[in-house]
Amino acid sequence: YGNNNVNCVKVDSRASNAVSELADIDWDNLGFGLMHTDYMYIMKCSKDEGFSKGELQRFGNIELSPSSGVLNYGQGLFEGLKAYRKHDGSILLFRPEENATRLREGAERMCMPAPTVEQFLEAVRVTVLANERWIPPAGKGSLYIRPLLMGSGAVLGLAPAPEYTFLIYVSPVGNYFKEGLAPINLIIETEMHRATPGGTGGVKTIGNYAAVLKAQSAAKAKGFSDVLYLDSVHKRYLEEVSSCNVFVVKGNLISTPAIKGTILPGITRKSILDVARSQGFQVEESHVTVDELLEADEVFCTGTAVVVSPVGSITYRDKRVTYGSDGVGRVSQQLYSALTSLQMGLTEDKMGWIVKL
Ligand code: COI
Repeated sequence: YGNNNVNCVKVDSRASNAVSELADIDWDNLGFGLMHTDYMYIMKCSKDEGFSKGELQRFGNIELSPSSGVLNYGQGLFEGLKAYRKHDGSILLFRPEENATRLREGAERMCMPAPTVEQFLEAVRVTVLANERWIPPAGKGSLYIRPLLMGSGAVLGLAPAPEYTFLIYVSPVGNYFKEGLAPINLIIETEMHRATPGGTGGVKTIGNYAAVLKAQSAAKAKGFSDVLYLDSVHKRYLEEVSSCNVFVVKGNLISTPAIKGTILPGITRKSILDVARSQGFQVEESHVTVDELLEADEVFCTGTAVVVSPVGSITYRDKRVTYGSDGVGRVSQQLYSALTSLQMGLTEDKMGWIVKL
């Protein structure tokens, strides 16, 4: 049970919920908050059968044992990806197989079985189609897709759960930060850390996100958008922001912290590295120091939720450094436009990243 080689039985793919009308909501003011949509997808994994017989259910609460592995010992992972509606009515996903693979890698670290890549992709497809009326009109936002994998079986002593649940729910979203597309203001956290070497910082386990809430809440109370974490050993190298990866621009060089077990391998991060390279930038995954950050021309963050978010200022030990003069930096803007045009199907997909439903 400690590996991913569980039986794979083809997922029941119900006919999509054919609806021609959009949900009746204010599409012009989407933020990043949960909206209850029509359906969620659930697939259970038992010891004997593996993951099988996934099905759509009406969106709603789920039942869990009080002693489930996820509630007691944090045995859980999540993913995030988006569906966009194109002007011609088609629905586009961005690199969903990357999420499927990352979930499987995380599951291995957390001692969980995981759906196959094919099961994951089929589950995403049927869930998005069943909730089609919640996909924002072209240019108004996207449908955020949140897959969860959890130890749903009951345990008391510390051990992997005896049963697992894979679930997907969706919600229409707009901009993640309340600043919208305007630059965000970050503060560097010098006491608390997000991850440690040998820990789980490099996988998308739920506990990584609970661990940043204290620093994030304190930063927000002081008016900052979010927190930038440093490595826990030297307290000198950049790691990531609570909800996204970080990039530093100096001249033609774009640097981001290298993946080394404490940093989440973001799919947007990886895509931006490729897009930047294809646009003639020199790109580097390395140790990025606080000094390099403070001397940068531009700083931006990347993530599925945040897309490409320019950083307007960084505060470090009571010193505030600002970037650009208020507006969005040239490189951040260029990369944001290149990525979102691809995701929304406005430019040719030379990378083979788009999956049309
Ligand atoms: C995402 O970008 O999809 C994430 O998972 C980050 C989350 C904290 C919103």
